[in-house]
Amino acid sequence: METKEVIRNYWDYRSETYSTEIVEQSEEEWATWKNMLSSTVDRREHLEILDVGTGPGQLALMFAEMDHHVTAVDLSTRMLDKARKNALKKSLDINFIHGDAEDLQFPDMQFDVVSSKFLLWTLPDPQKALSEWKRVLKKDGMIIAIDGDWFNSGIFLKSIRAISDGIRSIKERNFHNLFNQHYNPIKNDLPLYSLKPDQVFRFFNDAGFENINIERTDYLCRSRKKVNLPDKLDYASPIYFIKAVKK
Ligand SMILES: C[S@@+](CC[C@H](N)C(=O)[O-])C[C@H]1O[C@@H](n2cnc3c(N)ncnc32)[C@H](O)[C@@H]1O
Repeated sequence: METKEVIRNYWDYRSETYSTEIVEQSEEEWATWKNMLSSTVDRREHLEILDVGTGPGQLALMFAEMDHHVTAVDLSTRMLDKARKNALKKSLDINFIHGDAEDLQFPDMQFDVVSSKFLLWTLPDPQKALSEWKRVLKKDGMIIAIDGDWFNSGIFLKSIRAISDGIRSIKERNFHNLFNQHYNPIKNDLPLYSLKPDQVFRFFNDAGFENINIERTDYLCRSRKKVNLPDKLDYASPIYFIKAVKK
C-alpha cells in the first residue's frame, strides 16, 4: 500500500475519537488559541486563509470566527465530515476540500496565510509541501505551522509515551496497535516524524521562506483542562510554533 493511503486509512479510523478534542475545548482554551492566532496574522480583515491537514477543523473554525475567508484541506474524508459538522454547530461558513497538502489544487498566490497544526510530522515530502504552500501564498503571505517532536527518543519522553500508550490501549481498544500497524512500516519515510527545530528551519529555508521563527509553545497544549490523561501526557513533548514569510 502507498504511504499516503496508509496515512489516509489511519486518519479515517482515528477521526471517530480525535474529533472530540475540538468539541471538548473549554471557552478559555479556545480563546487562548484564538488570541495567539489573531496576534500572529496581520490586522487586515477578511484574509484568505488555507488550513492544511485541518482534521476536525480547529484552526479553520478559529480563523472563520475571526471573520476571515477560510478554505480547509484534508486527506481523510471522514475527518472532513467531522470538520463540517463542527463548522455547522458554530454556524461557520468554511470551504472544506478533500485534497493533499503536498499537491494543492489552487492557483498561485491565492492566500494570505497557510496554516497547519500537527501535520508536518506525518508528511512523506515536507519539502514538496512547503514549496506548494509557498506557491499558493501571496507575496508577504505567512505560514503558521504548529507541531511537536512527538516521537522524541529521549528516555524521559519515551517513558511518558509508554504510560500514555498503556492507558490508551485500555480506554480505546486497538488504539495503540492501530497506530503502530499503520505508522511503524512508514515512519522512516516521514522526514519530520521526530521533528527538531534546526531541521524544520532547514526545510523552510530551503523552500525560500524568510523571517523564519520557531518557538516552543508547549504551554498552549498543557493548559488544557478537560483533556484526557493520555493526551495530556502526549503534550509533554516539545511543541513548536513556526512562522515564516514569503517575500
Ligand atoms: C494529527 S491530525 C491534526 C488535525 C488538526 N490539524 C488538529 O490539529 O486538530 C493530522 C491530520 O492531517 C491529515 N493529513 C495527513 N496527511 C495529509 C496530507 N498529505 N494532506 C492533507 N491532510 C493530511 C490527516 O488526515 C489528519 O486529519
